Amino acid sequence: MGNTQRLKPVNYLLQNGIIVTSSKAVNGDLLISDGRIVSCSFTGQPPEGTTLFDCSGCYILPAGIDPHVHMALETPSGRSADDFYSGSKAALRGGTTTLIDFVTPRRGQSVWEAFLERQQEAKNALCNVRLHVSPVEWRETTGYELTRCLAEGEVNSFKVYMAYRNSIGLEESDIQKTLRLAAREKAVVAVHCEVDSIIVENQKRLLSAGFTAPDCHPKSRPSKAEAEAVGKIIQMAEEASCPVYLVHISARESLDLIHRAQQKGLPVYAETCPQYLLLNDSEYQKPYDQAAACVMSPPLRTDADREALWQALAEGIINTVGTDHCPFTIDQKRKGLSDFTKIPNGAGGVQFRLSLLFTEGVMKNRISPVRFAEVTSTNAARIFSLEERNGLNEGNFADILVWDPSLRETLPERLPGLEDCINIYAGRSVSGGAKHLFLSGDEVCPEKL
Ligand code: URP
Ligand code: ZN
Repeated sequence: MGNTQRLKPVNYLLQNGIIVTSSKAVNGDLLISDGRIVSCSFTGQPPEGTTLFDCSGCYILPAGIDPHVHMALETPSGRSADDFYSGSKAALRGGTTTLIDFVTPRRGQSVWEAFLERQQEAKNALCNVRLHVSPVEWRETTGYELTRCLAEGEVNSFKVYMAYRNSIGLEESDIQKTLRLAAREKAVVAVHCEVDSIIVENQKRLLSAGFTAPDCHPKSRPSKAEAEAVGKIIQMAEEASCPVYLVHISARESLDLIHRAQQKGLPVYAETCPQYLLLNDSEYQKPYDQAAACVMSPPLRTDADREALWQALAEGIINTVGTDHCPFTIDQKRKGLSDFTKIPNGAGGVQFRLSLLFTEGVMKNRISPVRFAEVTSTNAARIFSLEERNGLNEGNFADILVWDPSLRETLPERLPGLEDCINIYAGRSVSGGAKHLFLSGDEVCPEKL
């Protein structure tokens, strides 16, 4: 996708919209020709045959890049409910044209083979897909296999898990090896920051005292488990001179550590997710199905954490908002009815990322439209080297979102297309939606998907 050779140039002129570039939001016209952005301040007569779009009252934005999704993730409770086809459809409906998912090999499996398998699975996606590659152990050939993914696989990031040590988590010495390799090869390492031993001890203590309900999930994974891991990985990354991208940051305590590292000039990037900005831990007091729908790691936190995250997002300490999209059906979530540690971790949201953030961020003046474009698209493009999809710049692929702030929606009880999955944002009113969407210069009709 994106390299289609057309027999005749296809031109689109987006007229009279608010064009959001890296520095400003200004009224103007944007010309697309043959899949690429030709001009972000077009004046004059468009080429013959150009299709015109009236964008008055709408923002013209770089289309969304969601740097953190899990389609058809294998878990002991079965695969997560969206595959690349349905998940990419949901992404497009919500204004996102690029997803970054993961390669998670089985222990004993070659990383390169796992990469090829995952690449094959992603073939039915309707949008751009990139992959972060996760070493889940360190064998003699692991370094070579990871390097091969970078050299031959259009990969430029790894992901390591400090939690989940009994399955996909890495030992500290193996994390160090991954950081060193990434530093040498100019890759970035995404990190799931939670100290495994704190969680495992809490889980054992709670279960042996007979506490089994979903409200034990946040108790077993306190802010301290995240913040300690954040502190540790920053130190390790500094020693290895490796850029790190800290996924789904949820806790106020982590933010100070991240800010200090950034002030020292270390390449430490941070992501949060809509769920941590919008929901709090009172969700775990609800009846089982509702509470289990919000079982994700890290867990939802307090309102004080939410407010600190918003501030960090506005100030640039948090660089991106990804979704960690990983929905499970009610039946899958019920695997944990008598043991909260058996509830598959994750929730869906890829379709609602932009409208939630626009409503709660831009409409409430917490972030500007320029910042909105950065945290939903261009920062991820920069961090993960998606150079030709990095914002509204002439010559880039035309991944463009025409965003109508006057559209209104009340979010449904179940995830669209996944009727067995509870929508954790059900009942919220959101403002704004995709009016037009272009994927590598081709018009996608979100409402027809
Ligand atoms: O709860 C979560 N986050 N599920 C998906 C896997 C992960 O930890 O990112
Ligand atoms: Zn995740």
